[in-house]
Amino acid sequence: MATSPDGELPRVRRDRPQVFISPMPELESPQRQMPDSLMLTGFWYRALPTDRVHRNQLQKAMLLEIPLVLGRDRQGQPFALRDACPHRGMPLHCGRFDGEQVECGYHGWRFDAHTGQCQLIPSLTAEQTLKVDRIYAGSYACEEHDQFIWVHVPEPPAAGAGFTKQGEPPTAAPQIQKFTETYQLAYLTADMPVSVDHGIIGLMDPAHGPFVHQAWWWRKRASIHEKRKNFEPIPNGFRMSAHTPSSNSAPYKLLRLYADADSITTTIDFTLPNLRTETVRAGKYWFSSLTTVTPITRNHCRIDVVAAWNLFRWMPFGPELLKFVFAKFVEQDRRTMELQSQGLKHNPHLMLIDDADRPAKWYFELKAAYLEAKRTGSAMKHPIPEPVTLKWRS
Ligand code: FES
Ligand SMILES: [Fe+2]
Repeated sequence: MATSPDGELPRVRRDRPQVFISPMPELESPQRQMPDSLMLTGFWYRALPTDRVHRNQLQKAMLLEIPLVLGRDRQGQPFALRDACPHRGMPLHCGRFDGEQVECGYHGWRFDAHTGQCQLIPSLTAEQTLKVDRIYAGSYACEEHDQFIWVHVPEPPAAGAGFTKQGEPPTAAPQIQKFTETYQLAYLTADMPVSVDHGIIGLMDPAHGPFVHQAWWWRKRASIHEKRKNFEPIPNGFRMSAHTPSSNSAPYKLLRLYADADSITTTIDFTLPNLRTETVRAGKYWFSSLTTVTPITRNHCRIDVVAAWNLFRWMPFGPELLKFVFAKFVEQDRRTMELQSQGLKHNPHLMLIDDADRPAKWYFELKAAYLEAKRTGSAMKHPIPEPVTLKWRS
């Protein structure tokens, strides 16, 4: 296969975790390979589906290699603490929770579940004046939307510094766009044994469809044809401009018939750190999804797809059907990445080619631009200067 000179992905040292470096020269400085550049802090991430976090129980989770303990207070409000006691590091999920305070299982220090502020140190005598309320367990801002608990992962504290009261996150957590009062909602989740970068570029990759997502009711390999799609820059990301979806897939043909609409349009956005939103509109009907690929560790990510729609409401099996289709897709992707991870173990030479891998290149460029802006304190320089048409066969 021909390789464009700028399409090479440099190899990384074998003793390092699998790091996917962008081909851009300015990315080749060693500090770009640090874990920080792989997992972007300062954003909201989906931590757990809401139905896995129950009142008065403690639930472990991990985000960006940060161990977390999640729970709900007596009122049902979710909280997230760092799963390590500030005293001697005992995982807090091994302790007790009374609906208000988390008690460490080692020496019984108690922490407010929402703020992480220490409330009690049982070993202190009446004359010992240690200021208990100045001690904090790490705590994280939490929001609950569209069947997930989102956690804001702030910039890491200075090395060696302890935790203090958490600041307010600068933005609210992302939500799915909805266009009517009533709608249905469903989610799917799958673990992938690859880095978040491979998860994300797999998600935005248009060329794998005919090979990975074959099904008689979707499309056949023989239906591969040339496509042109317009892309435009948006803040922190890019958009595949509103277009009529692929004519060679049966569900869209069905949708057109069902919605009795002349036009069906799809818009797909990608925004940092990991958000893919897709909106399909056909007359008064709509379908909208927000997919995220969340870094769990350097070599492990999780894909969560949440979809909302007002279609198929009259059909008894509509939602199940939709869920079945999505589950099949996600499983095909998960299986592919599981196989891919076997190849990646041996640190192969990798490449990104035009135009099919251009979105993947943009992703790495956006990431680099974001980190550069953070480093210099200047405004982020968007790597996509103007709208562009990409061509590929799929
Ligand atoms: S380690 Fe948690 S109270 Fe001592
Ligand atoms: Fe896929």
